[in-house]
Amino acid sequence: GGDSKPLSFIHIDDYPKETILKILERSKEVKAAITAYDHSYKPFADKTMAMIFTKPSMRTRVSFETGFYLLGGHAIYLDPKSIELGKREETRDIARVLSNYNDIIMARLFAHQDALDLAKYATVPVINGLTDYNHPCQIMADALTIQEVTGGLEGAKVVYVGDGNNIVHSWLRLAAIVPLHFVCACPRGFEPDAATVELARKAGVSKIEISNDPMEAVKDATVVYSDVWASMGQKEEAAARLSRFQGFQVNDEMMKRAGKDAYFMHCLPAERGKEVTDSVMEAPNSIVFQQAENRMHAQNGVMLHVMGC
Ligand code: CP
Ligand code: NVA
Repeated sequence: GGDSKPLSFIHIDDYPKETILKILERSKEVKAAITAYDHSYKPFADKTMAMIFTKPSMRTRVSFETGFYLLGGHAIYLDPKSIELGKREETRDIARVLSNYNDIIMARLFAHQDALDLAKYATVPVINGLTDYNHPCQIMADALTIQEVTGGLEGAKVVYVGDGNNIVHSWLRLAAIVPLHFVCACPRGFEPDAATVELARKAGVSKIEISNDPMEAVKDATVVYSDVWASMGQKEEAAARLSRFQGFQVNDEMMKRAGKDAYFMHCLPAERGKEVTDSVMEAPNSIVFQQAENRMHAQNGVMLHVMGC
């Protein structure tokens, strides 16, 4: 660690719009090289990354580990049992120990406060790989994907249908810095965090709507976006949520209402037959696998930025 506080990536709006757009441009450049099998760029040679997971993951683990490796570094996966963050050892101690072994830390956590504490006590950059509160790396990948398929992100109408969860909070925070029309259509009682809605509205950058009428909300959407109705940590509420979310399934009828130009996105993993049908997942305008692929490329851009490369 050095004298000054390293850069971290805990919320998407930790950076101004210009920086976010610059990171996305860098992501595209590095994606072009990687997808052309040009592996000559190794800025992370002799660098190591500690990856803390207190929750399950497929995309986040594999995309970070692969991306860091392809850029020359070595990533260490710490599963939920090996640290038992907050139980075997306090977050502030973990942060300082790992900072002395590793050049960067990535963490997927329950409590958002743990992400804040890691960044506070670490002397290396910390990247948020999802907390109960937000998922900034996902929304970076989503933004990259929307740029790729539509040619631009600004002014896009993004209609999220489902639970007002961590994904929604990161969209709201992106909307606080990049001009969008963001709509969250959710059942009553499942609205996103009020302070985060307020933060996005107060920024005065985007049009922000919270709706309880998904069929109305999706009209003229650039993107209809879905996520599970019961997030990690809420799986025991799954049955109760299933009945509360009736009418919020993204199906052919809803996509028809959105219009023929609307794309379908989902952060994955999806519970097909619940929040989204098979037919929407498999439709030609479903970009969920391009979106998942872009996790790696967007995160490479984020890592390069916080590492000062
Ligand atoms: N979208 C996402 O973060 O997937 P994982 O939970 O598999 O990492
Ligand atoms: N809202 C979901 C996102 C998974 C990537 C969860 O937190 O489980």
